[in-house]
Order: sequence, then structure tokens, then C-alpha cells
Amino acid sequence: MTVMDDELLAAGFETIAIHAGLEPDPLTGAVVPPLYLSSTFVQDGVGNLRAGDFEYGRSGNPTRAALETNLAALEGGRAGLAFSAGMAATDTLLRAVCRPGDHVVIPADAYGGTYRLIARVLGDWGVEHTSVDLTDPEATRAAIRPGVTRLVWCETPTNPMLTIADITMLAGLAHDAGALLAVDNTFASPYLQQPLSLGADAVVHSTTKYLGGHSDVVGGAVVVNDATLAEKLRFLQNAAGAVPGPFDCWLVLRGIRTLAVRMDRHCANARHIATALATHPAVGSVRYPGMPGHPGYGVAVKQMRDFGGMVSFTVRGGERAAIDLCGRTRLFTLAESLGGVESLIEHPASMTHASVADSPLAVPADLVRLSVGIESADDLAADLRAALDGVAAGGNG
Ligand SMILES: Cc1ncc(COP(=O)(O)O)c(C=O)c1O
Repeated sequence: MTVMDDELLAAGFETIAIHAGLEPDPLTGAVVPPLYLSSTFVQDGVGNLRAGDFEYGRSGNPTRAALETNLAALEGGRAGLAFSAGMAATDTLLRAVCRPGDHVVIPADAYGGTYRLIARVLGDWGVEHTSVDLTDPEATRAAIRPGVTRLVWCETPTNPMLTIADITMLAGLAHDAGALLAVDNTFASPYLQQPLSLGADAVVHSTTKYLGGHSDVVGGAVVVNDATLAEKLRFLQNAAGAVPGPFDCWLVLRGIRTLAVRMDRHCANARHIATALATHPAVGSVRYPGMPGHPGYGVAVKQMRDFGGMVSFTVRGGERAAIDLCGRTRLFTLAESLGGVESLIEHPASMTHASVADSPLAVPADLVRLSVGIESADDLAADLRAALDGVAAGGNG
């Protein structure tokens, strides 16, 4: 099967993940994509490039091309672009779309680094922003400035509050005002949610997370359908050069091959953990989009295949108790990031979201975020229970 085979593009998600961009190497028959480390490519006479049109490693690399083909297919888009980090992907999209004087609508909760980039980097270059509760259609409509707002930036589920935004509804609001809708699909992964098919114009990923899946690579991606936008992104990708190295691309491709089976287990384990947390006396409230009491449950059912591997909850006893808990788990490792096979625990207010303190996106001080891995669910639940018991008892453990 070749990469752009219509048969492949019509195939199931798992088949696409394992085959798109990944046909055996025509030269050697290698089943796994070769790792092309060369930074430059021979020209057979000036400007006469060989198959693939590779000339210099920043502008293109065969291992990266395989990843980019695969990413586009996973999201059902026409063009995929890989970057050296999720933030580089976000930055490239924002700068491809916005000019000084333009305006961006952002969510009232989102990854802290996205807010920092928009408020403190693009803000200095004259791009304004308004943060708004994207679950409120009227407030969102009011925040969009027709003709000035170029982009509505959406994250769903959000990091770390796990708020669910209605992608179809937001696409309608953005398009009515002549703006684009970008969706950061990092928490869901393309296996659980495909924003382009719901009306979004661009999808962004931190491939560091579920796509890589093993906490061993930092990367980012943008996938779009529109050829003109793809061209602008491709231009900036090369002009600014925030590209991933070939081995990073290879690692992300390796992770993607097992994305579907990993996500199924992440979701099952997260459901188990959310249910177990809900009945523990040291827990205040649990946020998991798969719980019928979650305010975004109905929208999540409509637009997601399953509810993801992230769970957030508040701890009775406030910030002190939340921080205490993070130091007590044994299987849940205290660390930033998410989406790897191993379970992680963190305190967003002082770790991943320290950059939004005192901003409209500040997160509750008593909140703990879990990236639920694919270990045995009973072991994970027992680990949390023991740690929560210790917090409730005020022990030194
Ligand atoms: C939702 C979300 N988007 C983007 C990013 C940024 O990605 P990276 O750390 O790969 O630059 C993160 C990082 O945690 C994230 O959680």
C-alpha cells in the first residue's frame, strides 16, 4: 500500500496510524522507516533534486516527511507539519495567521504556556487577546471582534480543568465573523477526536504527549486542510526553523503506531480512577469529562470517541493538602507533562500553570492533575487511596 492510497485513507484509524507515510523503504525493504540523519542532500546538477525534493534538513527530511504524512492522515487533513515542540507549532500557527493589530480569542482555561506565548510574546508584537469561557456561546460571540479577530483558539479538553468546548459551535461562531478556529487536540489525541471533521480550520498537538506516548521526545504538530494556510505554515516552518530532528520524528512515528491501543487503556484506567476518587473523603470534586455530572459530558459524548486519560480533582484541606498529596504517591510519579504510558501526578498552580498565576487563566490552588497511565488500574487506585489516606490522617509518610 502506498501512503496516499485512497484505500488507506478510507481505512480505520488503527490502519491509518500504522501505515500512512510508512510503506516499506523502496531501496532496502526496511519495514520500519529509516532514520535519515543527513543534513543535506546531493543535487544532480544545480537545482536538480532527487525523489522527495529534499535539499537541506531544515526545509525537509525524509523521516520528517513520513511523520508529516502520517499526522495529516491521522487528523483527516490535507497537510501536516511537524515542529520541535508543541509551543513551536502554536507559535508558527499564530504567526502565520496574525499580524500586529489583530486579535485572538482564547479560552478562560488552557495550557499555561499557550497563554504565556499569546499574552507575553505575541502581545509585545501587537497581537491582542481576550480570554472567555468558550462553553458560553453568547460570551464567546461578544468576545469575537468581526474583521479584527483572526483566530479563536480552543483547547478541549482543557489543561488542567478538563473543560469541554463544542467544536462545531465554535467553528460556526468563528466563521460567522471571518475568523479561523484552531483546536489544540493534545489531550484528546486524534484517536478520540478529529476537530477538522467538526469544522475546525487547524489542529495543533504537543506530540510530546499521547502521540509520542513514552515521555521520551518533545515535539509539536499542526494539521490543516486549506492549501494557502498550509503554504504559509510551510514557509514559516522553514523560515524560522523550529523543526524536529529526524530521531525525534522517528520516535513520534513509533509512538503513533500504538496510539489507539494505548488510548483505549488510558481511557479505561482514567474512568476507574475518577470513579475511585469520587468516593474518597479527602477529595473535594473530581473533574473527568466521562462522568455524567461533568458540565461538558453531553458535548464530549457528541464529539469524542472516549473521554481521555486525564483526571483532575480538588483536595480537601486546600493548597497545602494538594501539595502534600503530590509527594505521597509511589506509582504516580511527581512530574510535569502527560500522555506517557506511566502515570504522573502534579500540582498545576505551582508547576505547569505557574505562568498563569494572577491571570484570568489562574487555576485553583487545591487542584491536582493526574495523567493516568496504562499500568494495572487496581494498582493505580490503591496508590492514590493510600496517598489520600495519608493526607487525611495528616501523617508524615
Ligand atoms: C495542551 C497543551 N498544549 C501545548 C503544550 C505545549 O507542548 P510542548 O511542551 O511540547 O511545547 C502542552 C504542554 O504541556 C499542553 O499540555
